[in-house]
Amino acid sequence: MSLTIEAVNQALKAVQIEELQTDVVSAGMAKNIQVQGADVSLDIVYGFPAKSQFDATRKAVIAAIKSLPGVGNVSVSVGHKIVTHAVQRGVKLIPNVKNIIAVASGKGGVGKSTTTVNLALALAAEGATVGVLDADIYGPSIPTMLGIVGRPESVDGQTIEPMMGHGLQSNSIGFLIDKDQAMVWRGPMVTQALDQLLRQTTWRDLDYLLIDMPPGTGDIHLTLAQNVPITGAVIVTTPQEIALMDARKGLKMFEKVSVPVLGIVENMSVYVCPDCGHTAHIFGQGGGGLMSTDYGVPLLGHLPLNLSIREQADAGRPTLVADPEGPIADLYKAIARKVAVQVAGIAKDMSSKFPSIVVQNT
Ligand SMILES: Nc1ncnc2c1ncn2[C@@H]1O[C@H](COP(=O)(O)OP(=O)(O)OP(=O)(O)O)[C@@H](O)[C@H]1O
Ligand SMILES: [Mg+2]
Repeated sequence: MSLTIEAVNQALKAVQIEELQTDVVSAGMAKNIQVQGADVSLDIVYGFPAKSQFDATRKAVIAAIKSLPGVGNVSVSVGHKIVTHAVQRGVKLIPNVKNIIAVASGKGGVGKSTTTVNLALALAAEGATVGVLDADIYGPSIPTMLGIVGRPESVDGQTIEPMMGHGLQSNSIGFLIDKDQAMVWRGPMVTQALDQLLRQTTWRDLDYLLIDMPPGTGDIHLTLAQNVPITGAVIVTTPQEIALMDARKGLKMFEKVSVPVLGIVENMSVYVCPDCGHTAHIFGQGGGGLMSTDYGVPLLGHLPLNLSIREQADAGRPTLVADPEGPIADLYKAIARKVAVQVAGIAKDMSSKFPSIVVQNT
C-alpha cells in the first residue's frame, strides 16, 4: 500500500501541542504536506512565538510519521507565523504593528510596568519581535526598567526612532521630556502625547506592542481603550480587595469598548521568607482567582512578592534578563505563552481584505 497524505495526517494526530490542548492537525498547524513515493515533507506552523518548542515538535512529528510502514525520508520545517488579529471595529491599525496588547490594572503600584517588561521579554525570547509603549505619562518607568538612557533620534523631525533595550523596541514620554514637565499636563494634552508616541514612532515590524497603561480608569484610559487598535488586554492585580475593585473597573472598561480581556495576572500573591521559607499572603489570598471565575476570564498566573523581581526591574535588568532560566522567569514565560495563545485564538484581522470603495465619475 502506498503512502498517502491522509495516512500522514492520521499519524500526525499523535503529536499533541500542549499549549493548545489538541493535536497538531486539529490545531491546523500541519501545512503543505507532500508525499513523494516513500518521502514525506511538511511544515509545522505555530500561530504564537514558540522557538523553545521547535526542536521537540520536529522530533515528535518525525517519530509520528516514521511510525507509518514504508516511510523513507521525512523532512519537517517548524516555525511560527504571527498574524494580525482583529481589533475594535472601525479602529485603524498602526503600520508595522501586528498586535497591540494593553497591560492595565486600575490601581497604581500593583506591578503593571514590571509585568509588562517581563512579558515583553518572554515573548521576544520565543522569537517574536516585540515593542513596549510606556503610556504612563505622569510616571514613566519603562526607560528605567529597560535600562535605557538618552534621547531617541528623529530622522525627519516628524517621526521618532524607537529606543532599544534588551532587544525590545520602546518609546516613552520619559525619553522625551524632563521628569517634572508632564506633571501639569491635562487630559487632552496627555491623550495627544500618547497618540503621537504610538503613531509617530517608526516601529519596525512588531509582532506585539505591549502598552504599559497608566494607573486608573478615567477619561484618558477610556480614550486610549477606544481609539487605540487593541487586540486584547491583560489585567494585573494584587490579591487584596481594594486592588481588585479597581481591576474590575479596568476589566469592565475594556469590555465596554469590545476589547477582549486575555486574562488576569495576580502579582505579589505570596511572600516567601528568604531565610526560613515561611509563606505569608501579605495582600490576601485568591483574589485574582475569584475575579477570574466571576468574570469568566482566565487567570494567567501568579507571581510571588519577591525582592529580586523588584531589584532587577528597578536596576534595568528585569528578571527575564537577569535570571532568564530561573523559577520566576519560568512563571513569566508561562504567562506570556498563555497571552500569545489567547491572541492567536482571536479571529484574524480582515479589514485589509475589504475592498476600498472607489467612486468614479463616468
Ligand atoms: N512581584 C513583585 N515582587 C516584588 N516587587 C515587585 C513585584 N512586582 C513589582 N514589584 C515592585 O513594585 C514596585 C511597583 O511596581 P510597578 O512599577 O511595576 O507597578 P505599576 O503598577 O506599574 O505602578 P504605577 O501604577 O506607579 O505605574 C516596583 O518597585 C517594582 O519593582
Ligand atoms: Mg507603571
